[in-house]
Amino acid sequence: MAAKTSHPAPVKEHIASLLDEARVRTLLLVSGLTDEDLHRQHDPLMSPIIWDLGHIAHFEELWLTKNLDGKIEFSEMPGLYNPLEHPRATRASLPLPSLSEMKTRMAEIRERVLERLQHQQFDERNPLLRNALVYHMVLQHEYQHNETMLQTLQLKLGDQYHPPRRLPAPPGTMVTVRMVSFPGGTVTVGTDDASWSYDNERPRHELELPPFAIDAFPVTNGQYAAFIDDGGYDDERHWSKAGWDWLAQSGVRAPKYWEGERGSRIERNMDRVAPLDPNRPVCHVCYYEADAFARWSGKRLPTELEWETAASWSPASPPRDYPWGEETPDPDRANVDQLTFQTAPLGAYRANVSPLGCYGMIGDVWEWTSSEFLGYPGFRAFPYKEYSEDFFGPDYRVLRGGSWATRSHAIRNTFRNWDYPIRRQIFSGFRCASDS
Ligand code: AVJ
Ligand code: FE
Repeated sequence: MAAKTSHPAPVKEHIASLLDEARVRTLLLVSGLTDEDLHRQHDPLMSPIIWDLGHIAHFEELWLTKNLDGKIEFSEMPGLYNPLEHPRATRASLPLPSLSEMKTRMAEIRERVLERLQHQQFDERNPLLRNALVYHMVLQHEYQHNETMLQTLQLKLGDQYHPPRRLPAPPGTMVTVRMVSFPGGTVTVGTDDASWSYDNERPRHELELPPFAIDAFPVTNGQYAAFIDDGGYDDERHWSKAGWDWLAQSGVRAPKYWEGERGSRIERNMDRVAPLDPNRPVCHVCYYEADAFARWSGKRLPTELEWETAASWSPASPPRDYPWGEETPDPDRANVDQLTFQTAPLGAYRANVSPLGCYGMIGDVWEWTSSEFLGYPGFRAFPYKEYSEDFFGPDYRVLRGGSWATRSHAIRNTFRNWDYPIRRQIFSGFRCASDS
């Protein structure tokens, strides 16, 4: 599913099978949970999981039935499942149905969506339908809410959540931790793909980037532990002003799911509690922690455009959709798709490497960048400003690359995620950069 600018006519059977596959996965993730588990407000940061299910279905109903009838009246559905009417912390007090009622509702909506798809004319003049964009948007919405649900499960159900199935990552191999260099020059970033991309990834544009160096691998648990053991959390010199304030106020002393002291640290991933593996990418750190580590090691975080260049640039050919080329991520290539339920040892995926020599840019952990979330030159909100544009500004930082909890079709070199710099319940890590 390469993000190309021109596409063959949408194949309805293929769209229907993707919709079905997305739903099978969503329901698989909650298959072991009780109504109690699903209705509890696990944390003010997160929705009760039953709300995510209703929101997924009603978003689909809105965009794949109502908004295809004529003009776009709403960008989010009025009522219970409107995220703007109901902030996350209040969602548990809503009259949300039981799982079995919800499944019936989800199936009813899906039936109408498929019925409509059968008769849908893919009118090229309608930008929602051209290249099946709106179907791909709804699919990616469900994929993204899967990851949100997994954040909730890791956060609060903790060791009571038993992943439906867990596949081991390939074993790690010996690697040399190092940096690679971009020589400086004109690069092409963003995309003009009008089939799978979000508005915030467009348009494709060129710019001049000075030379820089960037880590060939994400920062590991072992490297991060060395920062802690060196007193990193006690030394103001490594922290930005905002980061130091956050530290004082939060009392944080380690990544979110770590416990124990030097030499005997353990880490929890869902129901698995194990000694910290020093050879896996560190996960569940916030932007301020990533930034402090980078300063401690004499480096800095990459900008998002440096990150994208490191993932996609090659000297003689156009930028790649993925570090390895044009093929959609699969479990042999990268730690994606909610299969391993934790980060994989360095060197596990030999083919997950960009032309510049960066490994693991797709999968494992979302990587913090130093960039604020802004529109590219020539940005146009489409089809609704509540997805991206409403979040543009200095409050958020961009994350790139997707995590083990990201579905394959919801990640590519140009994909931009964003969150508040204090957030750690997301599957977030980082790699460092420096001026050459
Ligand atoms: C792109 C992950 C920041 O979860 O807030 C889901 C994705 N937007 N429904 C979010 C999203 C609307 C979004 N992030
Ligand atoms: Fe949503």
